[in-house]
Amino acid sequence: MIDVDRLRAETPGTRNVIHLNNAGSSLMPQPVIDAIHRYLDHEIGYGGYETQSVFADELDSVYGTIAELINASSTEIAISDSATRAWDMAFYSMPFDEGDRILTTTTEYVSNWAAYLHLRDTKGITVDVVPNTSTGEIDVEALELMVDADVKLITLNHIPTNSGVVNPAVEVGRVAREHGIPYLLDACQSTGQLPIDVAEIGCDMLSATSRKFLRGPRGEGFLYVRSEFLDQLDPVFVELHTAPVVLPDRFELRNDARRFETWEKNYASVLGMGVAAQYAIGIGIGAIWERIEMLAGTARQLLGEIDGVTVRDLGAVKCGIVTFEVEGRQVLEVRELLSERSINVSTSTQISAPVDMHDREIEGLVRASFHAFNTTGEIDELVGAMRVIA
Ligand SMILES: Cc1ncc(COP(=O)(O)O)c(C=O)c1O
Repeated sequence: MIDVDRLRAETPGTRNVIHLNNAGSSLMPQPVIDAIHRYLDHEIGYGGYETQSVFADELDSVYGTIAELINASSTEIAISDSATRAWDMAFYSMPFDEGDRILTTTTEYVSNWAAYLHLRDTKGITVDVVPNTSTGEIDVEALELMVDADVKLITLNHIPTNSGVVNPAVEVGRVAREHGIPYLLDACQSTGQLPIDVAEIGCDMLSATSRKFLRGPRGEGFLYVRSEFLDQLDPVFVELHTAPVVLPDRFELRNDARRFETWEKNYASVLGMGVAAQYAIGIGIGAIWERIEMLAGTARQLLGEIDGVTVRDLGAVKCGIVTFEVEGRQVLEVRELLSERSINVSTSTQISAPVDMHDREIEGLVRASFHAFNTTGEIDELVGAMRVIA
């Protein structure tokens, strides 16, 4: 059982707002805030490189903590400055040739989609979208039927930015493994929200962010690369930390996932991300997920009962992201009206998930996203406000 009062006492932001924008950027808990302050105070007082040395062990332990969060090993983790860069480092390091196919989902995030179009135009790869089942998640049987010798990557969005669905990552992993196809999982919205076990999922690469359901600081993310898969990638960039130049005419790639990093980092925030992962592990990701499902399920039901509000979520398994339209109201207007009542939500537009929003003919959605520190009282506030707005 989660001690909600403790979670809220440890989350200063809950005293100011009803924060239902955890899929955008969540509220940091006190231990994360303290770690960042502690690091920065030292850096201000003693210098950047010197502070890095003093905190070397703590910084190194971040890799182990993140690995524990997703059941990987610490050598399989690279720290990056966002989920997008983590994902890019994997995707752009794939040795694609003209005619190669990649299989992806309707709900792909816009930045990943842009990268597919980029390599379509520059390398001549083909991007094929796997249809959904009638309940809205990727159709694993259809995926399997689409596999042929040209498919060089299966790339899945675990939880899309805009539609409430949880895609069946484990079942997709089974298809990828059976056919020996590399599998890249975008776990940006799922990390910190629900249990992730890369061994069970069977993905070769996974990208995630710090600021969303993990509740770490902004400007951090990480990439997992399965150790046996590491050498199948050709790193798109190299530099001194990732590929030391051992002789003037020779460099050697690092033999772990950190070959996808950069030397320079915002170490205060790296530490913060590690503490956020530790905090989530301490609460128990299973318990966090259970509470998020309960809160989001309740909100979906109550919002759906309001005249003029239509909940648009997909999925047999739904997550903490609740999306809805309001008759006669623009989504930005709804966000502003809620903000005036100290309720933070965000919006998804056609830009965020272009294929899905286009296919479903949706212009925009209001997105309320729940974390374990939210309460049913806050849902009542949201629902009350929405009744007035609608
Ligand atoms: C599903 C998904 N993937 C990737 C990203 C990109 O994450 P970041 O902004 O940390 O690069 C987002 C951000 O909203 C997302 O929702």
